[in-house]
Amino acid sequence: MAPALPRLLVTRRLPKATESRLGKTYQARLNADDHPMSDAEILDAAADSDALLITSMDKGFATGIIAKLPPSVKIIATVSVGYEHVDIAAARERNIAVTNTPDVLTNATADIAVLLMLGAARGAHWGARMVREDRWNSWSLTEPLGLDVTGRRLGILGMGRIGQAVAKRAQAFDMELHYHNRRPVAPDLAFGARYHAKLDDMLPYCDFLSINCASTPETRGIVNERLIAKMPHGAIIVNSARGDIIDDDALIGALKSGKLAAAGLDVFRNEPKIDSRYRSLDNVFLLPHLGSATHDTRIAMGMRAADNLDAFFAGRRPQDLLT
Ligand code: DGY
Repeated sequence: MAPALPRLLVTRRLPKATESRLGKTYQARLNADDHPMSDAEILDAAADSDALLITSMDKGFATGIIAKLPPSVKIIATVSVGYEHVDIAAARERNIAVTNTPDVLTNATADIAVLLMLGAARGAHWGARMVREDRWNSWSLTEPLGLDVTGRRLGILGMGRIGQAVAKRAQAFDMELHYHNRRPVAPDLAFGARYHAKLDDMLPYCDFLSINCASTPETRGIVNERLIAKMPHGAIIVNSARGDIIDDDALIGALKSGKLAAAGLDVFRNEPKIDSRYRSLDNVFLLPHLGSATHDTRIAMGMRAADNLDAFFAGRRPQDLLT
């Protein structure tokens, strides 16, 4: 008799191709209506599960769920590159493996960072609104006007895979590139960007600041009033990483005072329940966490998570093991 397939709890819907693959190799318990599951519901559904497939919206894995998981759970595969929502130390303590899905979403997320820069600088949101609301009455040489991206200076906070892909794209806009990272990256990965060991030292060069670092205890709230004050007047901040890297009071204050000309935000603290003050600011270009949201990328993320699970249950080391 063939051994029983591992039992897998999947907390959110995945693209069809991934769900049907998982259905063949696991006893998969899927979330058919894709509702966000509460911690209690996850714990209840996880009873007897061997594996959990989760997303970055399952925040409870950073705040206590892991200690309460049944002993049957051996691996947690998050369908995300970010893993701040998983308490890795707690998982190690329980001897539960954790994997993520790097690489496959790099290009899609870097594309969104560029969209944020262009959208914020050129006022794509108010332009689109004017057309949709039938308020576009005449073409004018003087209003509304945005700001150029081409030829300006861009500082990249976090020069991992996504930061590097942003730098590569920014070269096409003839931008002068700067970056801050814990360590310098190899010159061929920097795309001509100048390294600043201290974030403070990079900020005066940032006509644009693109946030591309992970959310960690060191980076949470790092973009605050003091740092924004060091940027040139009329600068633009874009965030395609995690919302909690920005101090919202500081950003909103700077957008209101004109210290910052604009911001482009794809991610928010407590999303989707975002700070409602952003909605009333005309100089913010807002997107609903679309970084990795393309058909191909979401399939690739699901497949990468499935590859990690398959490797684990075949007794091999998953390529994206974090524990
Ligand atoms: C990621 O992969 O971390 C994306 O932000 C989606 O959660």
